[in-house]
Amino acid sequence: MYIPSPTTINNLLVVSALLGCILVVYRESKPETRMGYSKFEQQDESILKIPSRMGMLVIYSPSVILSLLAIMLLPPRHHSNWVAFMCFLHYFKRVYEVIRVHKYSGNTSARDACLISMVYITLTSIFIYLATQVPFSIIDKRQVRFGTMLFFAGELVNFYHHRILSCLRKTSSDSGYKIPEGGLFKFTWCPHYVGEIMAFVGLAIVTQNMLAFPFQSASALYLGLRASSTKAWYENRFPAAVLRAALIPGFF
Ligand SMILES: NC(=O)c1ccc[n+]([C@@H]2O[C@H](COP(=O)([O-])OP(=O)(O)OC[C@H]3O[C@@H](n4cnc5c(N)ncnc54)[C@H](OP(=O)(O)O)[C@@H]3O)[C@@H](O)[C@H]2O)c1
Repeated sequence: MYIPSPTTINNLLVVSALLGCILVVYRESKPETRMGYSKFEQQDESILKIPSRMGMLVIYSPSVILSLLAIMLLPPRHHSNWVAFMCFLHYFKRVYEVIRVHKYSGNTSARDACLISMVYITLTSIFIYLATQVPFSIIDKRQVRFGTMLFFAGELVNFYHHRILSCLRKTSSDSGYKIPEGGLFKFTWCPHYVGEIMAFVGLAIVTQNMLAFPFQSASALYLGLRASSTKAWYENRFPAAVLRAALIPGFF
């Protein structure tokens, strides 16, 4: 794993990842500033909202295009090209799920959709950039293989539980919330977030650049806080439901 030297760019990247973490904690800890989609859609009428499916396409589509461009521009046999391909697979899968798997009930704040979209564009650019900075001689192929396996396992866990959530609603016009059961929902309220975190840890390992981890941590922090709000939401809405962890049983 490559430990980059403290150049101005690298220092700026570390500072921006830390600022990202602080912003995430600040925003997600208060209901009025929380990202306004899904169970946490803001009720304020003055906020411009778009249907959630459209909001999610705004969030993910630019990163599909960006990672596809990177695949075409980067040298084919360089491992940064593999990182770009993994980013493409991740965002393409999300677009597929938005169109074909998820059944949405509400709206998304247009401002938050644009904000999250820009965050993903930045994250994708940074992961690919960091991979290009690693000297070829330092790349550990075993770690790359392990990261790739973790990535695919995470994406599978994520997809499987998205399907379970989708099956809770029998028709696309059904907008009710039900108690999810099956798979890892037995132990945690957000197994799909666990899958996403696994996939991002895998991706960070594949970049082979230590600087990817502060960014992966910011994303995991966001999902952790969101999972904590989701647990509180379920416990309030379904007080009789069997108790489970927010994210990782016995830990959080
Ligand atoms: N990397 C990151 O920082 C990050 C952050 C957030 C999300 N994500 C990705 O996006 C995925 C989805 O995230 P999300 O926060 O939108 O997940 P979510 O709130 O669990 O919603 C996912 C889908 O399931 C539906 N749903 C959720 N709970 C339900 C229930 N109890 N009964 C019936 N339907 C239910 C939602 O409908 P409604 O829309 O009607 O609620 C939505 O269609 C994650 O798994 C992850 O892959 C990544």
